[in-house]
Amino acid sequence: MSHIIAPSILAADFANLQRDIEMVNQSEADWFHIDVMDGVFVPNISFGMPVISAISKHAEKTMDVHLMIVEPDRFIKDFKKAGADILTVHYEACKHLHRTVQAIKQEGMQAGVSLNPHTPVAVLEDIIEDLDLVLLMSVNPGFGGQSFIENTYKKIAQLKELIDWSGSKAVIEIDGGVNDKNAPKLLEAGATALVAGSFVFNSNDPSQTIKNLKDVKW
Ligand code: DX5
Ligand code: ZN
Repeated sequence: MSHIIAPSILAADFANLQRDIEMVNQSEADWFHIDVMDGVFVPNISFGMPVISAISKHAEKTMDVHLMIVEPDRFIKDFKKAGADILTVHYEACKHLHRTVQAIKQEGMQAGVSLNPHTPVAVLEDIIEDLDLVLLMSVNPGFGGQSFIENTYKKIAQLKELIDWSGSKAVIEIDGGVNDKNAPKLLEAGATALVAGSFVFNSNDPSQTIKNLKDVKW
């Protein structure tokens, strides 16, 4: 199966959101990546339920929702209602991660866990079998348009080893600073899904940029 491309809506034009959603619908993208920031877990605030519900009314592809919020358990049902298909929480934001993951699955969503750049992959050893997705942050979460952290390649290799060892089927998603230069290396290391925000939406032809990322061979 070919890799997944998930354009990050954080980099879209919010005054022309429907236009940008249609562009992603018509493109070769696989998922919509939706970043939720609370101003507590990360030093930035993005958007919440009303905007996600509005996006999901038009989105014809999987809604991949990345929560950069504290105490995500409080809102699991609300994100389901708003249209999330995949719900990813941060390891660093969850005291009882196993409970949180089960609660996400109980709502009929796929469960993902994200690791900050400084968090070692090994912390997932006892939860990996329950996960549908692991999101490795390749920048510090909170903002689009930052530079890619090179240590990510090593973490992908370690995560791939953990997944193969455990028999988990988790998707390896990379988020932050992804472009056409690092995409081949990321896929070669074992990534199976790439998020791209500014690289897609700041390009002259976003739909063609998505196609180029989709066509990357390694
Ligand atoms: C950052 C977000 C990313 C962001 C990626 O905290 O999780 O999804 O939108 O943006 P780029 O691709 O511009 O780094
Ligand atoms: Zn994200």
